Amino acid sequence: MNPDPTTPSLPPRHHSGPATYYELLAALHERLRPAVYLEIGVHEGHSLRLARPGTTSVGVDPEPRLATPVPGARIVATTSDDFFARPDAAAVLGGPVDLAFVDGLHLWEQALRDVAHTERLAHRASVIAIHDCLPIDAVTSARERTTLVWSGDVWKVVVALRRHRPDLRVHTLDVAPTGLALVTGCDPDNRVLLERHDAIRAELDDWTHDDLLAAGRDELLAVRPATWDVIDALLADR
Ligand SMILES: C[S@@+](CC[C@H](N)C(=O)[O-])C[C@H]1O[C@@H](n2cnc3c(N)ncnc32)[C@H](O)[C@@H]1O
Repeated sequence: MNPDPTTPSLPPRHHSGPATYYELLAALHERLRPAVYLEIGVHEGHSLRLARPGTTSVGVDPEPRLATPVPGARIVATTSDDFFARPDAAAVLGGPVDLAFVDGLHLWEQALRDVAHTERLAHRASVIAIHDCLPIDAVTSARERTTLVWSGDVWKVVVALRRHRPDLRVHTLDVAPTGLALVTGCDPDNRVLLERHDAIRAELDDWTHDDLLAAGRDELLAVRPATWDVIDALLADR
């Protein structure tokens, strides 16, 4: 399955699991059956359309480009920071977030804030999926976009979460084109990421893709093969 025409068709990496992040997201919807789904970064709605009937979906994007409405979804046309600052954000969702997909601005400090704010609206058994955590190379993971496939430096979110929130379980699944990290063990009362925001930035801002490779990418990002066995074990451990 490759519903996004802008995503290149890459050969499947694992025959016993999802090949792309779309396939993995679809499987998360199928397995978790979330009552409430939050998506940061909607674009044309390809990932938003993976939610199943019966799920209340909220998509946040300052410039959504939906050709047709997504059934069951409410689009909030604003930035994620503005959405989370709204006093009625929880009411817009209608309940705690069961499944979230963070795929907005591909700069790591923004994605980190998106995760931190999402966690406040989540619960212990929620799953937060973060796109673009397995960078391909230095060019596609640069902070400035020059390529079609662009992960930005979102991978630093995984490093930050593993360092500063050891209570969370964070793993990066190797799906095309640029990986999907899964976060479980959410604690809506934990404020560490927001309180340490500036210090965490200072710690990781200067890291480059070369630094990641030198430090041991797969260990640092807790990379796991995207097999159904691995995925089901991660989901069961909530
Ligand atoms: C890669 S696209 C999302 C693709 C979509 N999730 C999919 O897989 O089909 C990223 C989107 O994030 C949006 N975006 C940019 N800055 C944002 C922000 N601060 N808050 C929320 N969304 C943002 C962009 O407008 C763009 O539509």
